[in-house]
Amino acid sequence: MSTFKEGLQDVVAATSSICFIDGDRGVLSYRGIDIHELAQKSTFEEVCYLLWFGKLPNRKELDRLTEDLSRNRTVPEEVFHLMRLLPRDANPMDVLRTAVSALSFYDPDRDANPSDAEANLRKAYRLTGQIAAIVAATDRFRKEQDTVPPDSSLKHAANFVYMLTGKKPSPTAEKAFDVALILHADHELNASTFAGRVTAATLSDIHSAVTSAIGTLKGPLHGGANIDVMRMLIEIGEVSKVEPFLKSALASKKKISGFGHRVYHTEDPRATHLRKMSRDLCESSGNGKWFEMSRIIEETMKREKNINANVDFYSATVYYTLGIAVDLYTAIFAVSRISGWTAHILEQLGNNRLIRPRAEYLGPKYPASYVPMAER
Ligand code: COA
Repeated sequence: MSTFKEGLQDVVAATSSICFIDGDRGVLSYRGIDIHELAQKSTFEEVCYLLWFGKLPNRKELDRLTEDLSRNRTVPEEVFHLMRLLPRDANPMDVLRTAVSALSFYDPDRDANPSDAEANLRKAYRLTGQIAAIVAATDRFRKEQDTVPPDSSLKHAANFVYMLTGKKPSPTAEKAFDVALILHADHELNASTFAGRVTAATLSDIHSAVTSAIGTLKGPLHGGANIDVMRMLIEIGEVSKVEPFLKSALASKKKISGFGHRVYHTEDPRATHLRKMSRDLCESSGNGKWFEMSRIIEETMKREKNINANVDFYSATVYYTLGIAVDLYTAIFAVSRISGWTAHILEQLGNNRLIRPRAEYLGPKYPASYVPMAER
């Protein structure tokens, strides 16, 4: 009997010790530690350590990792050169996918065996540092600006903003970014992580696995939703137009970006933090209307469809009020999710078996006849 489940819904496809989600209770935890606690008390660097090593770092371990990440923010000039040749209007996720693929040529551990755990960990550090630098450079190249060299005195979140804008962020903006990075760092077997694990499980290399993951994150049903949310808000334009817009969209059975989730049947715990951040940032920057519009959309979706906001809904207005170009939002998701992708790839390689499911065959009955060319 077929056990096929459309979209692999609720199918358990791996064992993992990284991320625990309870979709009915709205629980998300990394290595068992609740996301609310991590968002309030930790930093992105600490979360990287937790995801990669399975425990919170002590002071010495954290300092060491912070230094390692900081040292790995340099992108080979050849990759920047390649990026400068790409179309100025290219989708930043396409640029990121191409640049990460190109990084593999210049990685000092390029020829390491896929089962070399130390080399894999070094690649995880390097990719985490370099992806932030690539996303920042993507925005600068298309504005005909030079790259901003990394500042080793800054933590990952602040340095990313610095390399993007050339200005050190305010403490509020740094904190907002850091929390956004923590919230996006991992999410069990989401589509991009699964794609990365499938690639890694063939014993291909980590750059190939991360390139697969980036291509998967780009889609509007996954990470691409945060861009569509902001474009929708801009299209709606003002508070009074929210209700008619939604009425018409729902009547024509359109999906509203930033709502719904395959796993959560209640509030996405990441949305809880992002909603608060969005409210604070929108109000303090004189952009209250974006939060007000978002709030009405959320209330209407709950009332009309009983569907909750997901991680992408309020992250859109958070990034918007921080002055980030709308089409960069999904790439910023990748700046964080690289930590989770690499944690999962390392876990996969630590106990690997090829991932190769089956399909339920629905084609012509076997054996179908081969009709000669002249008779077709
Ligand atoms: N807007 C309106 N209706 C939605 C919806 C949304 N964003 N998300 C789900 N629904 C409805 C569907 O129309 C469907 O209703 P029906 O049973 O009456 O046909 C039902 O909820 C189930 O949706 P389905 O698409 O089958 O759920 P899924 O588990 O396959 O998809 C998502 C999950 C995330 C892909 C889906 O909710 C979606 O497309 N959301 C918008 C994109 C998004 O925000 N993605 C980021 C996810 S973190």
